[in-house]
Amino acid sequence: MPQVIGVPKEIFPGEKRVATVPDVVEKLRKLGFSVLVEAGAGEGATIGDDAYRAAGADIAPDAASVWAQADIVFKVRAPNADEVAKLRAGQTLVSFIWAGQNPDLLKSLAAQKATVLSMDSVPRISRAQKLDALSSMANIGGYRAVIEAAHAFGRFFTGQITAAGKVPPAKVFVIGAGVAGLAAIGAASGLGAIVRANDTRPEVADQIKSLGGEFVPVDYVEEGSGVGGYAKVMSEGFQKAQRDTFARQAKEVDIIITTALIPGKPAPKLITTEMVQSMKPGSVIVDMAAEQGGNCELTEPGKIVTKYGVTIIGYTDLPSRLPRQSSNLYATNLLRLTEELCKTKDGQINVNMEDEVLRGATVVNSGEVTWPPPAPRLSAAPAGATPPKAAAAMPAQKKGHGHGGGGEPASAGKTAAMFGVAALVFLLIGAYAPVTFLGHFTVFVLACFVGYMVVWNVTPSLHTPLMSVTNAISSIIVIGALVQIAPPAVASVAGEGARPDDLIRWLAVAGIALTAVNMFGGFAVTRRMLAMFRK
Ligand code: NAI
Repeated sequence: MPQVIGVPKEIFPGEKRVATVPDVVEKLRKLGFSVLVEAGAGEGATIGDDAYRAAGADIAPDAASVWAQADIVFKVRAPNADEVAKLRAGQTLVSFIWAGQNPDLLKSLAAQKATVLSMDSVPRISRAQKLDALSSMANIGGYRAVIEAAHAFGRFFTGQITAAGKVPPAKVFVIGAGVAGLAAIGAASGLGAIVRANDTRPEVADQIKSLGGEFVPVDYVEEGSGVGGYAKVMSEGFQKAQRDTFARQAKEVDIIITTALIPGKPAPKLITTEMVQSMKPGSVIVDMAAEQGGNCELTEPGKIVTKYGVTIIGYTDLPSRLPRQSSNLYATNLLRLTEELCKTKDGQINVNMEDEVLRGATVVNSGEVTWPPPAPRLSAAPAGATPPKAAAAMPAQKKGHGHGGGGEPASAGKTAAMFGVAALVFLLIGAYAPVTFLGHFTVFVLACFVGYMVVWNVTPSLHTPLMSVTNAISSIIVIGALVQIAPPAVASVAGEGARPDDLIRWLAVAGIALTAVNMFGGFAVTRRMLAMFRK
C-alpha cells in the first residue's frame, strides 16, 4: 500500500501559501505516494482543486479527513493546538516548527507519539541546499521587500529624461547582504535604482557588486566575520562608526531595506529615530527583521506605519505575499526532502537517523524529542552561539568541537592552563623521546599548525562558509597527494626514506580524484547559488 501524503489548507490568519503544487504532486506520485489535498487548500495561491485533480491528487472535503487518512502531512506554518490534537502515533508531519522559539509546541508534538521534521532545522550543508526552505523563503522575502517599497514610494525607481522633466533614479540602501539582502539588491537594481549596501562581513562586497550594487564600507577597521563566516556582534567603536555611516546614507537615500541579523540574537537596532527624521519626506523603510524586534527603532511588526513622513513597513509575512512563487519553491523543497526520505521510490518513507540531513531536520522521532541535533561534523554555525534560525530556549552549549573556540570568549584561566599542560607534554617528549622521533614529531606539529591556520583562515567567498572550508581541506589533501605521487627526489622532502611505493601512489591518485569531485562540486554549487540572484 503506498503511503498517503496529506496537504491541509493553512489556517494561520492571512497565510496564502500551500505546501504542495500540481507539478510536485505528479513527482510525488512518481515516487510511489498518493496525494490527498484538502478542498480549497490552494485558493490563496490561485491553484484550484481541478489543477490538483488533473495532476493525480485526491481532494478531501475537509481538514479532518486529510489528517485522518494521511500517513505524512505536509504543512507550511507550525501547527496550532487543534492541528496538534489531530496528529496521531505513527504519523509524520513536515512543516516549519521553529523548535527553539516553541518549546511547548515541541512537547505537545512529542506527546502525540508522532514523528516531526522541521524545515527550519535542515542543516546548512552543501548536500541539503536543495531542501533549504529558509533560503528560498528569504530570497522571495527580499524580492517582495523591494516590491512593497516600490508600491509605497511615490516615484519611479529608474531615472528618466522626458519632455515633462527629468526624473532622478531612486537611491536604495540595503543593510545586511545575506540571502534576503542579495535578493533585494538584485531586484532593486533590476528596477533601475541606484543600489548601495552594507554588511559587517566585508567578503560580501564582490557579491553586492556582481548584482549591480555598490558596497558602502564603514570607516573603522574590524574583521566582521565570526567563526564559520557568519557575522559577529561588533565592538562599540565599530557600531558608532556604522551609525555615522548609516546617518549619512539616511539623509541621501530614498529607500532603506534592512535584513541585518545574527542567528540566535535579537535584531541589532541600526536605524535610529533621528535617522528616520533626517530622511526625505516620502522615503520608505522596509524592515525585514521586524519579527526579531526590527532593525529600525520605529518599526511596528506586522504593520505599515508613517512616522515623520517616512513609511515604515514591518511586514512579517513577505513570502506569503507572493503565494504562488513561494508555494512552488516550498513544495519543491518538500519534494527534495521526500526524495531523501524515500530513496527506494516505493511510496514508503524511512526517517534514517544516521543520515545527517534527516537527523538534523527531525525534531521529534516517534514521540521522542530529538532537538537540538548534534552539531554537524563541520559546523557552518558560529561555535558557542545558538544554531542558525533557532533562537531562544537553547540548552547551554557544550564547548565547541575543535575550531578554535570562537564565538564565546573562552576563560583566560582555562586557556592558560591548556597552554601550560601542552608545554609540559612537549618538555617531557623533548627530554625522553629518541632523536629520530623528534624530527618527525617536529614536522608533524608544524604540519598540524600550518594546516589549521590555512583551513580556518580561508575567507568564505559566498555566505556558505562550509563550502570554503571543505574546499580548503580538499586543497590540502590535493597538495599532500601530489607530493606522494611526485618523483622520489621531491617526495623525499617529506622526510628521509619516504620513497612512495605503488600502493601509496595509487591511494594518492584516488585521493586527488575524490577531492577534485568535492572542489569542482563546490564551485558548481557556488555558481548555481549566484545564478539564483542574477537575471
Ligand atoms: P542571513 O543570515 O543570510 O543574512 C543576514 C545578514 O545580515 C548577514 O549577511 C549578516 O552578515 C548581516 N548583518 C548582521 N548584523 C549586521 C549589522 N549589524 N550590520 C550590517 N549587516 C549585518 O539571513 P537572511 O536569510 O537573509 O534573512 C534576513 C532577515 O530577513 C532575517 O531576519 C529573516 O528572519 C528575515 N526574513 C523576513 C521575512 C519577512 O517576511 N519579513 C521573510 C524572510 C526572511
